[in-house]
Amino acid sequence: MVGGTHGIGRAVVEALAEAGAEVLATGRNVAALQEMSPAVHAVRSDVTDMADIERLGRAAAERLGQVDFVFVNVGTATIEPFEAVTQESYDRAFSVNAKGPFFVVQRLAWLIADGGSIVFTTSVAETGGGSVFTAYSGAKAAIGAMARCVAAALLPRGIRVNMVSPGFVKTPTMGIVASDEDRAAFEKLGDELTPMKRHGQVEEVAAAVLFLAFEATFTTGATLTVDGGARYLGAS
Ligand SMILES: NC(=O)c1ccc[n+]([C@@H]2O[C@H](COP(=O)([O-])OP(=O)(O)OC[C@H]3O[C@@H](n4cnc5c(N)ncnc54)[C@H](OP(=O)(O)O)[C@@H]3O)[C@@H](O)[C@H]2O)c1
Repeated sequence: MVGGTHGIGRAVVEALAEAGAEVLATGRNVAALQEMSPAVHAVRSDVTDMADIERLGRAAAERLGQVDFVFVNVGTATIEPFEAVTQESYDRAFSVNAKGPFFVVQRLAWLIADGGSIVFTTSVAETGGGSVFTAYSGAKAAIGAMARCVAAALLPRGIRVNMVSPGFVKTPTMGIVASDEDRAAFEKLGDELTPMKRHGQVEEVAAAVLFLAFEATFTTGATLTVDGGARYLGAS
């Protein structure tokens, strides 16, 4: 579970732990995971740091050995007008949303049991997030494209690779780096733009993730959209 300390990732950690699974969850700040059940191993790891990814690989091998499922949930968006994107902010967006998730999976793939599965979290922004999300949208589209190729690469081992693509979902960050005021405005805008006229709950995304992980046995390289109709119904 990469990016499991809060929000959507934490909801999946909680569901898995409740079902009796042993879970290894990561984030940059894992203090919030310490209060969870002893079956949850917390490992501090930053996906923008290749040395941390290596350490995560070693920790997963030592603590879990073989794994059935890897959820690569980490990601974050910065609200940034097109004109304001710099090389640094572009690299940051790709590092946390695309490069890090790619190398985490490359490093962990050998631990996944044949017949296991991987789920990546993308975003409805992967098909166009609007003028303030150019770098983020590009990075999410990139990890989506890479994930489909990883699905092809892992076919011989029977490992399924799928994506969950959330729309506006209520989490501590709403998926963005922003002030509390901007985040509240973003949430309100999301409720207006979403055809179902509300934001999603983390449990609704977690249910989709667990379906892809364990039940969707004839599904690989696919995206399950959990967005209240945002992608396909537009502003209806
Ligand atoms: N919420 C939404 O409306 C929404 C919409 C579309 C897509 N998404 C996507 O859904 C995923 C989860 O979103 P969320 O709203 O649940 O986000 P969140 O509450 O901010 O959680 C993000 C998780 O990723 C971890 N993380 C962030 N940067 C990291 C880094 N550099 N290295 C390792 N871990 C890192 C965070 O842990 P630490 O803070 O401890 O590092 C946290 O566990 C993201 O990929 C996001 O892009 C969310």
